[in-house]
Amino acid sequence: MRRTAIALVASTVTLSLASCGVLNASSEAGDASPTKGNDITVGLLLPEKANSRYESFDYPIIKKKVESLTKNQGDVDYANADASADKQAAQMQQMIDDGIDVILLDAVDSHAIADGVRKAKDAGIPVIAYDRLAEGPIDAYISFDNSLVGEVQGRSLVEALGNGDDPSKKIVMMNGSPTDPNAKQFKAGALDELTGKVTIAESYDTKDWKPENAEANMEEAIDKIGADDIAGVYSANDGMAGGIIDALKAAGVTELPPVTGQDAELAAVQRIITGEQYMSVYKSYPQEAEAAAEMAVAKVQGRDIQFDALTRDQVDSPTAKDIPSQLVPVVALTKNNIKDTVIADDIYQLSDICTSKLRSACDEINLG
Ligand code: GAL
Repeated sequence: MRRTAIALVASTVTLSLASCGVLNASSEAGDASPTKGNDITVGLLLPEKANSRYESFDYPIIKKKVESLTKNQGDVDYANADASADKQAAQMQQMIDDGIDVILLDAVDSHAIADGVRKAKDAGIPVIAYDRLAEGPIDAYISFDNSLVGEVQGRSLVEALGNGDDPSKKIVMMNGSPTDPNAKQFKAGALDELTGKVTIAESYDTKDWKPENAEANMEEAIDKIGADDIAGVYSANDGMAGGIIDALKAAGVTELPPVTGQDAELAAVQRIITGEQYMSVYKSYPQEAEAAAEMAVAKVQGRDIQFDALTRDQVDSPTAKDIPSQLVPVVALTKNNIKDTVIADDIYQLSDICTSKLRSACDEINLG
């Protein structure tokens, strides 16, 4: 996948053409009909429930935003695939049969769903890839900057291990699901930072991102390497970090090595405070989800200028070039910036995080 600097220039040109009415007159086949008003239905296909972000943040934020953009006349039709690509294909077909206005698609398997994307396109239904870059003729893509996620994780782990002072220090690399294109980008970004600075003793891809699969892989890694020789663990997300930490504890490790994560899940934020997990990556769900809702509504209502302004980046997928995109930045989440991230964005209340069990750990870092 490639990001290009010409995106801004390209969208400036598009804007000026659009304002002359040139583009509107020749809008592509399959484009949304500009006659749609507020009475629209946005289809939302999310991939799984094991990770709390989807049901706790992505869905409710998108629903609320669609409602507010359509003066409460628009609606969201939501389906979750429970990590099954087949189930997601059926859910997508149902939305096509129902003649939904636009689909926001977070793919379980970005390759397998290409067929569904093509069918939607043939039916005149725009598809916007949400968070994961689905293959096929998608109209747009919105996600976080996934290479940056991997770089932030890798850099943090290298810093925790002495900045490459001893490249023989062994780490375990626990990557995400092989059917999720983001997982490849997290891994590539992390490898850019890790290579030459540490020794990757064992590396796994984790089926369906499941914490229990990561835990089983970690048990195997501990058997092979020996718990005492593991200096750190690269975990691609927080759910898996939980399984990894459980495996380390079960092997009798009392001083846990640095373990990375992603998603700022509540349990992970709490582990960061108690020192069990080293870091996570905070992705502002409101920023991604609200922009996705804006893109979907603008697309259906034929608001081209607004849509272009929302998609000023460009990426390539294995099947499409120069996809109009928005890539949202991310930050490392550590003990030091809990207030400025998850609390400032209202993701969690202080009282959710600093329960009575965590009171003294919270006090130690002046939280609360
Ligand atoms: C990724 C997503 C992450 C995390 C992971 C596990 O695609 O970008 O935020 O949710 O899937 O589901």
